[in-house]
Amino acid sequence: MGNPAHHYTCHVRIALGSDHAALDLKDLLATHLVAGGHSVLDLGTNSTESVDYPDFGAAVGRAVVEGSADLGVCCCGTGIGISIAANKVAGVRAAVVHDVTTAHLAREHNDANVICFGARVIGSLVATEALDAFLAATFAGDRHQRRIEKIQRLEEAQ
Ligand code: RB5
Repeated sequence: MGNPAHHYTCHVRIALGSDHAALDLKDLLATHLVAGGHSVLDLGTNSTESVDYPDFGAAVGRAVVEGSADLGVCCCGTGIGISIAANKVAGVRAAVVHDVTTAHLAREHNDANVICFGARVIGSLVATEALDAFLAATFAGDRHQRRIEKIQRLEEAQ
C-alpha cells in the first residue's frame, strides 16, 4: 500500500463556483473533473460580467454542508476572498492552495471539504494537479481530528 495521498478517488460529487476573475479556471477544472469521471455541480458564475465572490463561495459551501456535493471547488482572483466567504458557512473547511503539497495536506491534516484557487496566481496545470492531489488524499485523523473538533467548537460558540 502506497502513500494514501496517492490513492485514486472515484466518482466524487463536486460543487464548483467562481467569480468573473476565475471563470476560465473554474470551467477548466470542471472539464477536468468530468473527464476524470466525477459529477460536477456548476454553481456559476457563467459569464465575464463582474459579480461578487461571496455569493459563489456561499453557494458552494452550502452545497457541501447540505449534502448535494461531497466536496467543493472555489476560484476567484486570489482564492482568498471566496475562501473567506465559504468558511462562513458552518461546517465548511475551505483551504486556499497553491500547489500539490498544500492541496494534499489540506485534506490530510485539515480535512478541508472545499479547495480554493486563485486564477491570477496559479497556472492551470498546477491547479489541475493540485485538485487531483486533493481528491486522492484522505484525512489522516488522530491528532488532526482533535484539532478539527476544536474548530467545530469555535463554530458552535458563535
Ligand atoms: C475581483 O477583482 C477580485 O477581488 C476577486 O476575484 C478575488 O481576488 C478576491 O479575493
